[in-house]
Parts: sequence; C-alpha cells; structure tokens
Amino acid sequence: MKFFIDTADIAEIRELAATGLVDGVTTNPSLIAKTGRNFLETIAEICEIIPGSVSAEVASTDFDTMLKEGLKLAKIAPNVTVKVPLTPAGLKTCKALSDQGTEVNVTLCFSAAQAILAAKAGATYVSPFVGRLDDIGEDGMGLIGDIIEIYASYTSITTQVLVASIRGPAHVIAAAKMGADVATLPPAVLKQMFGHPLTDKGLAAFVADWAKTGQSIL
Ligand code: G3P
Repeated sequence: MKFFIDTADIAEIRELAATGLVDGVTTNPSLIAKTGRNFLETIAEICEIIPGSVSAEVASTDFDTMLKEGLKLAKIAPNVTVKVPLTPAGLKTCKALSDQGTEVNVTLCFSAAQAILAAKAGATYVSPFVGRLDDIGEDGMGLIGDIIEIYASYTSITTQVLVASIRGPAHVIAAAKMGADVATLPPAVLKQMFGHPLTDKGLAAFVADWAKTGQSIL
C-alpha cells in the first residue's frame, strides 16, 4: 500500500519525507487555506520535495474553467495529479484530462455508485472519504470494501482506491487488510503509527542494559 500525506504544510512534508515512507502528497483547498501561502508556489515546492504523485485541486465547479485550471496545474510539474470533485462537471474534466495522459484524482467520493463513475471517467485515483462517512454514522471502511470488490471484478479498471479522510491508525490497518492501493494520512496519523508503549519501554531497557556492558559498537 502506498502512503501519501494529506497536508500542504512544507515543514511537515520535509520532516515526513525524510522517513523515506512517503510516496505522495494530497492537498485540497482547505489545506492550502490553512497554510496562508500561494497555491501554485506551494504545489511547485511540494513537487520538488516529493517525486511521487502530488494532488492539486481545481477551485472552480464548471467544466470549462475546471479544465483550464487542471491544464494549468498539470504544467507545474510532471508529478502533479489534478484533483477534481465527484460531480458531472468534475467527471467530464477527469475524462478530458485523463484522455490526454494527465493523472486525475477524483475526490469527495461517498458512494460505490460514484466510484463506478470515477473509474468510467478514467480516474487514476478515486478518493472515498472514510472519516466523514463515519462522522455521519455511515460505514466508511465498508465503502472501501465495496469499491475494491467492484473494481476487482473488471480487469479493464485501472483506477486506484485512495483512502482519504483517515482519522487514525485503525483506518490504515483496515484499508491495508482490504488491499487498498493508497492511504492518504494526516501527518499526525503517520506519527501515531510509529508508536507503541512497549517499544518505548523495551528500548529504554535495552539502552540501560547496553550501558552496563561498557562497550561501544563504533
Ligand atoms: O484531502 C481529502 C481528505 O483526506 C480530507 O479529510 O479530514 O478533511 O475529512 P478530512
């Protein structure tokens, strides 16, 4: 499973890229607004740090403008993936961009029916939002299972399932068990995945016992 990080914060991206565990980045207008920085410059900077897919989302909602925005975003760097919303105009834009070889991430997916449409439109990635579904009492991970099952029934479907709106390591584990292609993690969730109290306790004991030997490896 590929790990993307769901942030537009350059400092966080640099810090987590250094772990060697980050395959890509997803951003959205809310994450860009949080940085207070220029959108196009921020995407260009992220693309230099991370060689993998960097999702940059269109801002308009009509086809003509979305297409123009998508074409402009795609020119920023070869690793830009244009992100469009799962609307009729968004899927039309997805089809137009993917037909000419541009990677597209279809976002705001909340149903299996929508995911089928995204695949038909040639999406590189579909982003179902598991946390937001859980928030309204629906089954976010159940949707991931449904989409994976449907896509697996057709060898012609190449759209990758990108699990988004992840709230914690449990979502990542569930996504991995289902064989999801990608999980986009808020930085805090990736950091949580490293931790276990028994790891900390065990390491402290090893360090203390090693000190008693008086030896040095180097
Ligand atoms: O970037 C899309 C998605 O991951 C947003 O998640 O936490 O705003 O529901 P969230």
